[in-house]
Amino acid sequence: MRWDLLSLPACPAPPIPGEPDAPIVRTPVPGPRTEALRAQHGAFQDARSVHVYQDAAKSLGNYLVDVDGNVLMDLYGHIACLPVGYNHPALLAAWRGGRFDWCAGYRASLGVAPPEEYVGVIERGFMGVAPRGLSRVVTVTTGAEAVENAIKLAFIRYARDQRGGPATADELAACMGNRQERANRMKVISFEGGFHGRSLGALSLTRSKPIHKLDFPAFAWPALPFPASRFPLEEHAEENAAREARSLSLVEETLRAGDVAALIIEPIQGEGGDRHASPAFFRALRALCAQHGASFIVDEVQTGGGGTGRYWAHEAWGLETPPDLVTFSKKMQLGGVYLNEDHMPAEPYRVFNTWLGDPLRAAQLEVINEIISKDALLESTAITGEFLVAGLRNLCSTYPNLLSQARGAGTFAAVDLPDGPTRDRLVRAMQQLGLETGGSGERSIRFRPALIFTPKHAAEALTRLEHALTRLG
Ligand SMILES: Cc1ncc(COP(=O)(O)O)c(C=O)c1O
Repeated sequence: MRWDLLSLPACPAPPIPGEPDAPIVRTPVPGPRTEALRAQHGAFQDARSVHVYQDAAKSLGNYLVDVDGNVLMDLYGHIACLPVGYNHPALLAAWRGGRFDWCAGYRASLGVAPPEEYVGVIERGFMGVAPRGLSRVVTVTTGAEAVENAIKLAFIRYARDQRGGPATADELAACMGNRQERANRMKVISFEGGFHGRSLGALSLTRSKPIHKLDFPAFAWPALPFPASRFPLEEHAEENAAREARSLSLVEETLRAGDVAALIIEPIQGEGGDRHASPAFFRALRALCAQHGASFIVDEVQTGGGGTGRYWAHEAWGLETPPDLVTFSKKMQLGGVYLNEDHMPAEPYRVFNTWLGDPLRAAQLEVINEIISKDALLESTAITGEFLVAGLRNLCSTYPNLLSQARGAGTFAAVDLPDGPTRDRLVRAMQQLGLETGGSGERSIRFRPALIFTPKHAAEALTRLEHALTRLG
C-alpha cells in the first residue's frame, strides 16, 4: 500500500525546521565506522548492546544521524526516552539563552544545598504535570531507583500503620542485625512479564526475562499472572475478561493472606512484550489495594511523559481514587516518584541520597513540558498513534503469516511476529531501510517515537516496514 498517498489526519505538531524528509541509508547498518568505534569502546566498556554510534550534533527531530552518515528514523527513542526528538530548537534556544546557567557550572547535592532556582523548577516543571491526587515528588536518577524508593515509601507507610506508634528499642536493634520480623514478612505483588528495573530490590519485582535475574538473591514475593489482552479487543472480549477475572481473584487471595505492603504494575508492560489490560482491570486492582491496605504503585517509567497520548497512561483508566505512588523516568529525563500525603515519611532522610536527581535534567523537563503544551504534542501523539496502529492492523491483514496483534496507546505501539528469530530478522531488515527500532518481549516489535512523530512520519515508517516485510519473504 502507498501509505504516503493516504489522506493523513490533521495534527497540530509543527514541523521541526530542517528535519530530513526521509531516511537515507548509505552503508549497511550498523556501518563500518560504528563497528570500528565498537571495537575501540568495547575494550573498556561492554559495547555489545550498542545499535549505532550517533552523530549527536547532526541528529534532528525524528532522525538519528549515525557516524556512518546514515539518517535513521528513530522509532525507538533511546528506549522511550526522547520526548521532543533530537536537538529541538526550543530546547537549544533555552540552553543558548542561558536558561540553564544556574545549574551548568556544577552539580548540586539537592538534599543539602539546592540552588534557589530549583524550587521553582520542581513547583512548575514537576508539580505542574503531577498525576491527579499526588501532591509530592521525590526525584532520583534512574527508573530502577524510582521503583526502589516507591517500595520503600510503601513499606514505611505500611509499617507505620501496623505499628501504630514509634519504633521500639528492640525494633531498632533488630534492624541493625537484619532481623526485623515484621519488615522481613512484608511483600510486594508484581506481575508475570513485568519489568521494574535491574537494581537488587527492583529485581525481585522484575519478571520479564531470566537473564535479568539469574544469579541474584531475591525476595520471595508473589508474581501473579498479567492478563495480557488479545487483539483486536472486539474479537477477544470474552477471553480477555476471563483472564482478567482470574488474575483479580489471585490478587485478592494474595492480599487476603496478609503482609502485602504494595502492588506494583505497569499500565502497559513495556519490556515484557507490550502487554495491555483493560481500564476495568486496573480500577479493580486499585479498589482491592485500598480495601486491603496495600499501596497501589503505578510504574510509569516507560509509559509516562506523553507517549500514550496522555501525560500519564493511567489517566485512561478513569480511577476514582488515584494511585498512591507513581514512578517515572525516561521521557521525564530523571527518575522519581510522585506520592500522596499519606506516604510522606514522618522523618527526614528515610528516602534520600546524595544527588536526589539532577538539576540540569529537571530544568530541561520544565522546558520540554512547555514545548509539549505549546505544540499540543499530547493531542498530536494521540492522533498519530491512531493512524499508526490502524496502519499496523492493515499490515496484519495483508501479511497474516508474519504480523499479528497490532496494538497501542498513542504512539506507544507494537506488533507481533511469529517467533523471536523472525522478529529479530525484521528489526534488522527495518534498520537496513532506515528505521531504528527494537524488540519487546519474546516476539514483538515496539514503537517508542518522540512526541513530535506525526502522521507524515508514521506513513513513511509504514511504507518502509512493509518493504522490510517483503524482504523477509
Ligand atoms: C516500567 C519500567 N520500570 C523501571 C525501569 C527501569 O528503569 P532504568 O533502566 O532507568 O533503571 C524500566 C526500564 O526500562 C521500565 O520500563
